[in-house]
Amino acid sequence: MTPQPKLARTRAIVLAAGLGTRMKSRLPKVLHPICGRPLIDYVLDAAEAATGGRPLVIWSPPVEAVRDAVANRADTARQAEPRGTGDALAAGLAGLASLAGPPPAELLVLSGDVPLVEADLLDALLAAHRASAAAVSLISVITADPGRLGRVVRDDDGEIERIVEARDASQDELEIEEVNSGLYAFDAAWVGARLADLLPSAVTGEIYITDLVALARADGRPVGSIQVPDDGTLDGINHRAELAEATFALQARINERHLLAGVTMHDPTTAYVDASVVLEADVTLEPNVRLRGSTRVGGGTVIGMGSQLVDTQVGRDCRILASILESSEVEDSVQIGPFAHLRPGSSIGTGSKLGNYAEVKNSRLDPGVQQHHMSYIGDAQVGARTNIGAGTITANFDGRRKKRTTIGADAFIGVDTMLIAPVEIGPGARTGAGAVVNRDVPAGKLAVGVPARLRDPRPEPEDLPPG
Ligand code: UD1
Ligand code: MG
Repeated sequence: MTPQPKLARTRAIVLAAGLGTRMKSRLPKVLHPICGRPLIDYVLDAAEAATGGRPLVIWSPPVEAVRDAVANRADTARQAEPRGTGDALAAGLAGLASLAGPPPAELLVLSGDVPLVEADLLDALLAAHRASAAAVSLISVITADPGRLGRVVRDDDGEIERIVEARDASQDELEIEEVNSGLYAFDAAWVGARLADLLPSAVTGEIYITDLVALARADGRPVGSIQVPDDGTLDGINHRAELAEATFALQARINERHLLAGVTMHDPTTAYVDASVVLEADVTLEPNVRLRGSTRVGGGTVIGMGSQLVDTQVGRDCRILASILESSEVEDSVQIGPFAHLRPGSSIGTGSKLGNYAEVKNSRLDPGVQQHHMSYIGDAQVGARTNIGAGTITANFDGRRKKRTTIGADAFIGVDTMLIAPVEIGPGARTGAGAVVNRDVPAGKLAVGVPARLRDPRPEPEDLPPG
């Protein structure tokens, strides 16, 4: 018999319609971010990798935002009311029936709130499920701290007999240290025939997916399982303390990957690097650094203590000290900070230097620009090798509109210059200390005073004839 392609055979269903009340949040539980992505995204990654296809996500009206958040990568099905995980699975089967294509033979059912699960483990679950021709298979965890999790009850032969939810469990059952992780494989035809037989819990009124285990046994079908140690990987997130733990664990996993790929971290426990960030070998991260979103950093660059980069590309051999960089681009061998701020739309050319309290917004600084102290460049184009003196301000906003400033190459903007936009400073032009420049300065001219008047610059000492 030739094996069927993964896609036709197995379909992943991700349960994400619950209210997540213990999060005490307006945001649906599975949309809380960890390391920069909603936690359900990690589950969808694992589901895609294990099945080779598009997962089906179950949402419900109180958490409608879940549907919109996953729509680009998953099919979705609506659970009218979150009446329990068994009812959520029923919504999933109804959703699958309405999709085009052949029905799957197997279902991989995952909880949207178990984000650290990895595809390898799901592969192992599916392998165990197939090997035992089970109606249902699950992953269990042995833990000294079973808390509110479902307990795995085994019979005298050691076979799984049923799962009892903590809320419904007897005192003896609560002592059981083998718990249900909330990750399952099902024979799709069997579950389709039996799901309607689930009854609400007498204690909570919820319909439990976990009751399918006892139904499988009643039908004489094997229940498959794999057991994993309690390393936190399968911890569900039900409240913010668990969210913090998962964030910590995932951050450690991300940082380990970068460390092994040649990134130096002075203190990996305080390097906050989103899952999506790309770091080349020989990047150094000092303590307390936060790198977010689509940030990329080139080799040889040092990101100094206290810096935060959001959606920013930094080239090679740069030094970024205690600075904030947002949605910007930095070329190679640039020095920034301490205490500089690149606001969105800034592009800093090779070899430029931005010093203490330099702020740049929506501007291009060509290579070799120096902007060492306390200044603001906004909506501007600055030519190569130009010097921006301390206290220079582009007055780019007249109260109604933003206006542009253009400064040519090799210009020298004196300390405390006010550039009233729109204004153009020509290549090689200079401004005097405290100049308020409200009209264009042609190439090579000097502008001084308030408002600035034009002069021919005095020759530099080195330009004077000898003697
Ligand atoms: C569930 C299991 C428990 C297991 C634990 C592991 C049941 C009855 N219990 O408990 O045995 O130890 O996971 O983490 O399944 N959901 C829906 N619709 C609903 C209710 C829930 O889609 O009506 C979704 C939730 O959004 C969540 C997942 O199902 O992603 C699990 O629900 P949750 O309420 O967290 O179940 P637990 O109490 O953690
Ligand atoms: Mg849970």
